[in-house]
Amino acid sequence: MSDRLYIFDTTLRDGEQVPGCQLNTVEKIQVARQLEQLGVDVIEAGFPISSPGDFNSVIEISKAVTWPTICALTRAVQKDIDVAVEALKYAKRKRIHTGIGTSDSHIKYKFNSNREEIIERAVAAVKYARRFVDDVEFYAEDAGRTENEYLARVVEAVVKAGATVVNIPDTTGYCLPAEYGAKIKYLCDHVAGIENAIISTHCHNDLGMATANTMSGVLNGARQAEVTINGIGERAGNTSLEEVAMILKCHKGLDINTNINTTKIYPTSRMVSSLMNMPVQPNKAIVGRNAFAHSSGIHQDGVLKNVQTYEIMDPKDVGIDDNAIVLTARSGRAALKHRLSVNGVDIDGEKLDNVYKEFLKLADKKKEITDDDILILAGADRADLHNIKLEYLQVTTGKGVRSVASIGLSISGEKFEAAATGNGPVDAAIKALKVIIRREMTLKEFTIQAISKGSDDLGKVHMQVEHAGHLYYGFGANTDIVTASVEAYIDCINKFKK
Ligand code: KIV
Ligand code: ZN
Repeated sequence: MSDRLYIFDTTLRDGEQVPGCQLNTVEKIQVARQLEQLGVDVIEAGFPISSPGDFNSVIEISKAVTWPTICALTRAVQKDIDVAVEALKYAKRKRIHTGIGTSDSHIKYKFNSNREEIIERAVAAVKYARRFVDDVEFYAEDAGRTENEYLARVVEAVVKAGATVVNIPDTTGYCLPAEYGAKIKYLCDHVAGIENAIISTHCHNDLGMATANTMSGVLNGARQAEVTINGIGERAGNTSLEEVAMILKCHKGLDINTNINTTKIYPTSRMVSSLMNMPVQPNKAIVGRNAFAHSSGIHQDGVLKNVQTYEIMDPKDVGIDDNAIVLTARSGRAALKHRLSVNGVDIDGEKLDNVYKEFLKLADKKKEITDDDILILAGADRADLHNIKLEYLQVTTGKGVRSVASIGLSISGEKFEAAATGNGPVDAAIKALKVIIRREMTLKEFTIQAISKGSDDLGKVHMQVEHAGHLYYGFGANTDIVTASVEAYIDCINKFKK
């Protein structure tokens, strides 16, 4: 019988730690439901003690999702575990993920402790968590740089204490694939009682080896892989779910299966990219725009004769629709609905009508509407929930003149107007905005990006604004880049803690 690899998705925990990628609870529920459709076994829904937002998201995801196990992260601290237990109370299947750093540098610099005391704390946390749930995963943070002999002692102790899964994170993305695989094999061979637990991989991509390390771990005995959609995650990210799932599907000889419905991979990738405002690099394996595009003449000729000459996977297997229809001003509601659904966004009724109205306005300005455009339109109504809204913006600008902006805002329904001059249109518009919103705030980062090509393109603006010692991330998209910039600034202000 073939072996089963459990897929543990941490897009909503490790993935969501990326600056600028934070989701609200409604968006997290949308992603969690999509992950359930995709067939992941475990959803790591958050780190409940870290913030009220994370706590609430774990509660709401637990209510919204039926089949996958819902997992909550904790440190090896009783208070963290108590809060995680409370957050998981509605989960049909629940897991607590507790752990502590085990490398010498974590033990010395993070905990000012020693190896024996770390084992005691690890065991105490697992035992405490087991009082509340049957499924307890233990992580040995920085296991990648932990000496194997000591790691085996830690793992043996936590398995004896009741851990059902042991996670061996390469937290810093340092390991070489052979080294990581040997670490997993060492644990399989040297830990008494290891047959009572599942070994999990958790690899970071700092040196571009996350997927290779994960596969090496799996080939040496790990039976759970911790992954994120599009490989998002802190710094260079985590192992990509889509890469592991497709490696196992393509290499049938390995005889290791997952529960992933691979045709849902592309829609899930698009949904996560769009909700997190995190573009997927065009050459990203499996889900990048160019992953199946053959541009050289030799390749095109071969693929036309027989696709197997240059393609190891069928794009349809990952949910890429070959017959993608290009949307234009003449496309109807049904075509828009279909395209959104291919991209993981299912909407109907009034919401579809509203997005369709915006679509027609955009199609008047742009010849061809891309998937990125419609995803932005579908996400734009998030701004409707905002307290502060941009009503109008007029800017005069040009060479040899000082830019002048007049702006109209609605704040909780009340109208405000102001005007200002500045060193360019964005500066003038933001100064006018600041005449109305008199709060201490500083623009820290500002990037403008075109989505595809053409002077009629939508401009996407990402901003970071500092206020009262915190950084806030904002996003705006518009064919007018000055408007997109002001919308991004307003998005930041709307997130200020009151
Ligand atoms: O990378 C890591 O070590 C982690 C743990 C908290 C599981 O994310
Ligand atoms: Zn991690």
